[in-house]
Parts: sequence; structure tokens; C-alpha cells
Amino acid sequence: MKIAFFDTKEYDKKAFEKYEGKNGFTFKFYETKLNADTVGLAEGADAVCVFVNDDVNAAVAERLYSYGVRLIALRCAGFNNIDLEAVFGRIHVVRVPAYSPYAVAEHAMALLLCSVRRLHKAYIRTKDFNFSLNGLTGFDLHGKTVGVVGTGRIGRVFIDICRGFGMRVIAYDKFPAKDAGIEYVSPEELFRRSDIISLHCPLTEETRHFVNAESIRQMKKGVVLINTSRGALIDSEALLEGIKARKIGAACLDVYEEESDLFFEDRSGHILDDDTLARLISMPNVLVTSHQAFLTGEALENIAETTVKNITDFFAGQPLENEVCYHCGSMTECRRNGRKKCF
Ligand code: NAI
Repeated sequence: MKIAFFDTKEYDKKAFEKYEGKNGFTFKFYETKLNADTVGLAEGADAVCVFVNDDVNAAVAERLYSYGVRLIALRCAGFNNIDLEAVFGRIHVVRVPAYSPYAVAEHAMALLLCSVRRLHKAYIRTKDFNFSLNGLTGFDLHGKTVGVVGTGRIGRVFIDICRGFGMRVIAYDKFPAKDAGIEYVSPEELFRRSDIISLHCPLTEETRHFVNAESIRQMKKGVVLINTSRGALIDSEALLEGIKARKIGAACLDVYEEESDLFFEDRSGHILDDDTLARLISMPNVLVTSHQAFLTGEALENIAETTVKNITDFFAGQPLENEVCYHCGSMTECRRNGRKKCF
């Protein structure tokens, strides 16, 4: 079984290498992302293994199918970069639904603490033997209201962490969890009441630009926004305007809507063409990490283990526990009820 890995970094290879040769697997690691220009590299592969910024649109899916690729194994949780309707009935799609919700939730809290206590500024100052405290005044998290959007695996861990800090938690989820002891509110109420808003829902057509000019207008002055989910949940232009208008107190971004050609790569020494990102990064109250929230040793191990199991199960004809299709999210239409696979 030949598996073509796209968008791979050294840490991916390290996590997967120990599985090579086992179960008849041969791995080919490509640094390039999978897209219409690079799909030819998948010729001869039985499966492709992709990450968040690989682009499996309808044309790419068509080419993969023509090469005989019958499985797309995502080594991440989100699947917004796959045209699920285009692959349905031809190529199965599996993902890693959870590898470490702790990694992402802890990173969200790390960004929040760093931002509100100005640690990013303090670190640089003391490196330069500047021990002044001017401009470093923060605020207590204790007693503040945090609005959590999406109360799935990561959102729930984040809620637990926030409660540990003595924060009041409110949440919005399209599918609220029953008996979870969470105070669910409408998006409008969440925008109105939250001192801090953290996004943990998937990117769908419905959630695209969940944070936009209108929702920012409804928010409290000085609100802190955290996005460790997917960049396009926030309209970046509206965010920039909100910061310039002093409405948004701080933004902590691990993801960005136009990140695909930038994040994960060393772009130092290059001219950054994206003016919105450049302006955001230049702001003293914006913290950007480049889709790093998942990056812990534990998460990488779990990603490799589950991905290898997904691929093994597929080729062994076993039920595909982690398969996704475009019917997912609509429980009444779930295709897997009573079946092994989505089709
Ligand atoms: P999950 O599937 O466990 O939870 C997602 C929650 O969002 C569910 O409770 C669901 O009901 C809710 N939801 C679905 N549609 C919604 C809508 N329209 N409005 C509000 N809520 C909605 O997912 P998990 O594991 O908690 O991951 C959340 C997101 O985090 C993923 O979709 C992914 O995009 C992102 N992520 C980011 C990583 C990073 O490194 N920055 C790593 C892993 C995931």
C-alpha cells in the first residue's frame, strides 16, 4: 500500500516513520501541499494523507480518483478543505477527530494569558535588560465572562480551564450538549455579555465570518477575541477595523483566513504581500501564532496512531469509525447507520 503524504514537515515524518514497512505500508513524504498543480505526485498511490491547508477541490478529487486513489486520510480534525460532495461515492475520507483537545485548549489559554498580562512585551523587554513596567498593566481573568463558541471536545476543555481561573462561562453551540452544566445563550447574547470570546466550532458555510462587522458592533468595548479554530470564522478586515476603532481590546489568533500560503513556512526575509495580516501583526494588542495550537508531542503521536489505524481499517475492509461525508452533522441523514462506511 503506497501512501502519499502532502505538506509534511520534519515532525510529521518523525511521528509516522515508525509505522513504515508495517502492515505493508510504503510512505512517500512530500513537502509540497496537495492542490491542482501538485496532484500528479499522487499517481501510483493507493491513499493520500493530507493536512489543513491541502486543497482537495472537485478537480483535484477527480484526478485522485483517476489515479486509483480511494482514500483521503486527513491527519487533522477539520475537513473544510475537502470537497466532500465531489468525493462522495468515489473516495472515502477519514480524519483524526481528537488527538489532544488539551493541546489546543491550553494554547488558547496560553495566548489569552500572554495577551492580557503583556508577556510578549515583557519577554522582549527583559531580554534587553529593560525592567520598566510602564504599559504592562493587565487585568484579572477571575470574575470575567468568557463566551465559548462550540462546546465540543476542545471547547469543553477550554471551559474547564476557564472555570479553574474563576471565570464565568457562557456558550453558544448549534447543537447544545444536554446536561453539561453549561449556560447556553444566543450568539447575540454571547457577543453582548462576553469580556473574552473564544472560537471552537468548525468552519462551515454557516460559521464563515461568524465574527464580522455586525457581530463586532454588538460586542463589549475592550473584548478579547481568541481564534484557535479556523481563520475564516473571523472576517479579518472587520477585525482590523474593530481594532483600529479601539472596540476590540486584543486578538489572539492561531489561525488566519488567508493562512494557507503563509503559515507553517519560514517567510522571514520575504516581503509579506498580505497587507491585512501585516497590519494585524503590527498591532501591539494582536498575538499571532501560525497554527501551532495542536503542536505537542502527545498530539503528534496520537495523530500518527489514529491515521495509521484509519488507513489500516480501510484496506482491511473494517468499519471506518472516523469517516466523514457531506451528510455529517445531519444526524437524520447519517449514511453510516447500520453500515460500515458512508457509502
Ligand atoms: P468537535 O467536533 O468536538 O466540536 C465542535 C463543536 O462545534 C460541536 O459541539 C458542534 O456542535 C459545534 N458546532 C457545529 N456547528 C456549529 C455552528 N454552526 N455554530 C456553533 N457551533 C457549532 O470539534 P473539536 O475537536 O472541539 O475542534 C473544534 C475545531 O478546532 C475544529 O473544527 C478545528 O477547526 C479546530 N482545530 C484547530 C486546531 C489548531 O491547531 N489550531 C487543532 C484541532 C482542531
